[in-house]
Amino acid sequence: MPPETVPPELPTKLDAWKDEEASLLESLEQIEHKHGFIPRHIAEEVSRALEVKIERLRKLQTKVESNVRKEVDALVEKWKDEEGSLILILHEIENQHGYVPREIAMEVSYALGVKLARIYEVLTFYHYFKLKPPGRHNMSLCMGTACYLKGAPSMLAEAKTLLKVEEGCTTPDREWHLDVVRCIGCCGMSPAMVVDGKTYGRLNASDVSRIVNQATQPKAAS
Ligand code: FES
Repeated sequence: MPPETVPPELPTKLDAWKDEEASLLESLEQIEHKHGFIPRHIAEEVSRALEVKIERLRKLQTKVESNVRKEVDALVEKWKDEEGSLILILHEIENQHGYVPREIAMEVSYALGVKLARIYEVLTFYHYFKLKPPGRHNMSLCMGTACYLKGAPSMLAEAKTLLKVEEGCTTPDREWHLDVVRCIGCCGMSPAMVVDGKTYGRLNASDVSRIVNQATQPKAAS
């Protein structure tokens, strides 16, 4: 059994470790590696710090759950007598959040007594619904037949390279979301795309960077 004494050079600034689990684990590994054991009082202090953190997370989760429940209850109350109430509720959630968060979909399932799998069938059937949070900027590139034949694939390749994101995905910093859609109803000006709600047409690959720059430029104060 190793002695339960603290070697004099052992770091004791536990407060600094509490902020970051990864650095906490790393520090513990270093202590164990260096001394062959973790002194009991340090283990107890770490355990206390983690318990406090878990308790805070539990409280936060309860608060989030109760907010979600209130939101869903209000929507169910509003739409419950309408035909197609599920779709109407999901539309409102999408408009409100920019996507349908899983925890809200679960609450809708519970409130309406509809299976979660059925809700996801609806969400994935209609292109309108998103399952992940959108980016600050959103590009929907048309791959309908007219656009495809007039060069949309090279625009898509350019967009992917420029934004460093795959279709249907959002950049890790949530700055850009790239979608591929089937016909946006302006085939006469193909190839076309929509960026942040604005439609652009008669494009070629070199226009993509111009449009991206334009979208990300700070708007002049009016
Ligand atoms: S095919 Fe692209 S707008 Fe119709």
